[in-house]
Amino acid sequence: MAFPAQRPRRLRRSGALRRLVAETTLRTDDLIAPLFVREGIAEPQPVPSLPGVVQHTVPSLRAEAKQLLGLGVPGLILFGVPARKDVEGSEAWNPDGIVQVALRELREEVGDELVLMADLCVDEYTDHGHCGVLDADGAVDNDATLALYQQAAVAQAAAGAHVCAPSGMMDGQVGAIRSALDGAGHSEVAILAYAAKYASALYGPFRDAVDVTIRSGDRKGYQQDWRNVREAMTEVLADVAEGADMVMVKPAVTYLDVIARSRAAVSVPLGAYHVSGEYAMIAAAAARGWIDGPAVALEQLTAVKRAGADFILTYFAAEMAEALGG
Ligand code: PBG
Repeated sequence: MAFPAQRPRRLRRSGALRRLVAETTLRTDDLIAPLFVREGIAEPQPVPSLPGVVQHTVPSLRAEAKQLLGLGVPGLILFGVPARKDVEGSEAWNPDGIVQVALRELREEVGDELVLMADLCVDEYTDHGHCGVLDADGAVDNDATLALYQQAAVAQAAAGAHVCAPSGMMDGQVGAIRSALDGAGHSEVAILAYAAKYASALYGPFRDAVDVTIRSGDRKGYQQDWRNVREAMTEVLADVAEGADMVMVKPAVTYLDVIARSRAAVSVPLGAYHVSGEYAMIAAAAARGWIDGPAVALEQLTAVKRAGADFILTYFAAEMAEALGG
């Protein structure tokens, strides 16, 4: 009987051999923690569909940031839940709006030791739940929305954000925000563009976390159709051309092909967002004892990195950092 010369199992015989030849390793330095801060609450509120995740008060947010710092996680991305919503989402740029207040406090707490990212959109702040201002027909008005994003970017930068992360998928949003930041003296603030963001059913738990209900319609008129990948390249290349310092693909595990193609197409750092629904599916199955939650989380996050992501936004950040060590 002839045996093949190549015997890949030789290198799988021990943990040490496997470690030696591992092509991809997830590190604490790859993780960004998404955090929620809510105005007008006295105690942190659990988010039922995201077990282990809470809507923070400003003091509990500060404490969590300190904990992340201690664990060696390099950054966080902040989402605000305002007490008051209106038609334009004006709390997104109010200097005393919840995210701006929280950013100032976080800067005081951690300085430049943690990268402070701010999600930049208006859906948490509008009473209709869309990511922009509506025209007379109830459709999201792209260019009118850009002016709102510009104000939000300047407010976030003034409050201490190191990175603004526009997530609304308006055409031209990166260029608009870049010029507003530069014009207001914030040329040092970086932009992480949600470049290829799909109209995914996996954002459900997130919308619970930020108390967003889309009053009518959906996001398919601005977020991407999940049947498309070439279109994602158009989005990614446009964002880089407009000045994005980093780009992101979202969600993560169902879009590994998009991550791989983006990695090949551009040289800026590439992020991926392992979103609320991806977290919730693992947490729910693990709670029933049907899967080993931490093992599945590690496998999925490593796969996202293997596909080409440099860093991952994940609700597992703290837990993973604890398991991986600094
Ligand atoms: C929009 C935004 C969303 C998420 C991040 N930014 C929701 C949406 O587009 O409906 C989803 C994140 C997640 O599901 O974890 N501001």
